[in-house]
Amino acid sequence: MRIVFLGPPGAGKGTQAARVAASLGVPHLSTGDMLRVAKQEGTEVGLKAKAFMETGQLVPDKVVDELVRERLGAPDCAQGFLLDGYPRNQAQARALETHLQTGALDYVISLQVDDEKLVARIAGRRTCPKDNSVYHMATRPPRRPGLCDLCGTELVQRADDREEVVRDRLCVYHEATAGLVGYYERAGLVHTVDGDRSIEQVAAAVRAALSIDDDRSENAA
Ligand code: AP5
Repeated sequence: MRIVFLGPPGAGKGTQAARVAASLGVPHLSTGDMLRVAKQEGTEVGLKAKAFMETGQLVPDKVVDELVRERLGAPDCAQGFLLDGYPRNQAQARALETHLQTGALDYVISLQVDDEKLVARIAGRRTCPKDNSVYHMATRPPRRPGLCDLCGTELVQRADDREEVVRDRLCVYHEATAGLVGYYERAGLVHTVDGDRSIEQVAAAVRAALSIDDDRSENAA
């Protein structure tokens, strides 16, 4: 299956995409995670992306399109993939169509949550810098305070999760990305999911939209 997750910052794309990818056994491709790794490693891509990411702006299409093109060419993407955070505008959507040599996308999941709720939600996010696991101080706390459940690494707050940057990221979403919902609706691909419910309730709605049976998702958990 070839799936795209669309939604504003903090809507739960990463949280839900990780679950679906595990259920289906396909790679979870998050351009945000790829860019953060590049930034940490100080690669050329990371250096180009740094200033854009820290101010909540989109990294130039050319940089991100190339990153995604290379990743989609890897053998583990042959049976499907789940894109989280890409495409982010119409130019990237067209670049994706060019990358996909055969077949098209199967599903676009559009997660919807009001902006004010997102600002509050993002303030509580903590992430693992080693394996990218995502936690929330109130709604998904780690078992041991401040430490990743999977690898024990100390959790951090993302540099772009400060309130003023989050508000800029929301503006960028509405200006550049939200229009993609209509773009993919015209192609008959969009399933809209109310993201303003518990993580489990949203996960159940996403599974239903993708016709994933519960046995498959329990086996992956
Ligand atoms: P990226 O990392 O993609 O950030 P984003 O799209 O802003 O999305 P987030 O990661 O903030 O949120 P999410 O929807 O994944 O929510 P999550 O599951 O973590 O991009 C970062 C930057 O990289 C961009 O600003 C840009 O500079 C650059 N970039 C990336 N892709 C690019 C591209 N294609 N082109 C150009 N530039 C690009 O959940 C959030 C929190 O809420 C967590 O704490 C979670 O535990 C909690 N939570 C999740 N679901 C629920 C729920 N249902 N109820 C309560 N809490 C919940």
